[in-house]
Amino acid sequence: MLATACTAAPVASPPVPPAGWDDQVRLAQLPDLDPDPAVVEVELTAQVARQELRPGVSTELWTYQGAVPGPLLVGKKGGVLRVHFTNQLPEPTTIHWHGLRIPNAMDGTEAVQAPIPPGGTFTYELPLLDAGTYWYHPHVRSSAQVGYGLYGMLIVEDDNEPPLGDPLPLVFSDVGLDEQGNLRPGDDNGWFGDYFGREGNLLLINGHVRPTVKARAGLPQRWQLVNAARSRYLKLIAPGVSLFQVASDGGLLEVPRPIGMVVLAPGERMEVVATAPTAGVGRIPVRWEDVDRFHVGVPQAPMPLFDLEVIEDAAVEPQALPERLREIPALDLSRALPRSIRLTEMVEDGVGVLGVNGVSAAHAELYHAHVGTTEIWEVENTTGYDHPFHLHGFFFQPLMMDGRPYPEREWKDTLNIPAMTKLAFAVEYDDRPGMWMFHCHILDHADLGMMAMLMVAPTH
Ligand code: C2O
Ligand code: CU
Repeated sequence: MLATACTAAPVASPPVPPAGWDDQVRLAQLPDLDPDPAVVEVELTAQVARQELRPGVSTELWTYQGAVPGPLLVGKKGGVLRVHFTNQLPEPTTIHWHGLRIPNAMDGTEAVQAPIPPGGTFTYELPLLDAGTYWYHPHVRSSAQVGYGLYGMLIVEDDNEPPLGDPLPLVFSDVGLDEQGNLRPGDDNGWFGDYFGREGNLLLINGHVRPTVKARAGLPQRWQLVNAARSRYLKLIAPGVSLFQVASDGGLLEVPRPIGMVVLAPGERMEVVATAPTAGVGRIPVRWEDVDRFHVGVPQAPMPLFDLEVIEDAAVEPQALPERLREIPALDLSRALPRSIRLTEMVEDGVGVLGVNGVSAAHAELYHAHVGTTEIWEVENTTGYDHPFHLHGFFFQPLMMDGRPYPEREWKDTLNIPAMTKLAFAVEYDDRPGMWMFHCHILDHADLGMMAMLMVAPTH
């Protein structure tokens, strides 16, 4: 049921965003080469390019189509996205379509395709089954390649969704630069870099340092957020701005949820309806704050992310969000099979490494599952610091966290598991057999061994 409108005076101008509201953060898009409205067909090239991140300093980055982040890819639920990819980087790469339920052969890991060599091409054909906010990134040397700038957002739209505000895709990331403005090496600080997770010294929103977004007071914006940083968590604080979470990794929630801030571990997504206040506020600094993922009690200092310039030249009638966004049926657990996974740290060959069930990726056993079955995974973080757990290919429904029922039903593919905490989730393997991966999405941790493979076998 929609709330009744208030009795404000007639609107002076239509409730549209201020002119040029997203000019500073607008993401590039690629021409669609296929006239069929259900098929989006694009050409995408990975290439080294220069970009001015710090004012007056141009930095050589690794990019999709010449910019960080890469182009925004947009498709329709029920349609297809076809990407003709060319690798012009100096080393092999692939593209992983994080979160999409696609055929295994399109997953972009080295388990399913040979890395595309410099000068090579590959066509990814992606059926778009679920509306939502996704992203794409390499799955070869991923912590280094993502850290150099290879990532972009992918949005799958559903025309049947209720209108929730003016869409604003926001890619959060960071980049590590030296004094001269050159990229720090991907293996900066060696083992310590892997272990702590490399955090860049420049925070970026859509590739910009502290850009400005304009908002009309009282008019909702639909922020579509991804944390594309290789290791840095995002805690986003927007003082005075009303925030309602409406979607997570796998599309809409069941009901809008008021939140005080956005928290996203690397790899996670969230959509938030953000409404700037109607009382004269001017410019709102939206900031990053530290998530103390090592539980050391000494947070890093807050840093600016972007400014929200609030314009009040028109009265906007307040609009309530729909009470329900959609139904998410609970997975049937009556025949669910158990699986138990521990995220571990250990010593292998005299070196501290991270792993799954006591072994690093290099020595990991293969885990087996079957199409058509449902499982309940218990994933226990046995280390003293947090890990965002990511399963490829399938969404899961969180059930319990730290012994308590998970507060709502939602579709996730990446979820932070705090130190010494156990997550239980349910997953159903629909008919997409193959070799899927699961790993920590602090990509430096994945490199240090916290990664394993799940072989989902066909039914017969
Ligand atoms: Cu976003 Cu295996 O990755
Ligand atoms: Cu980790």
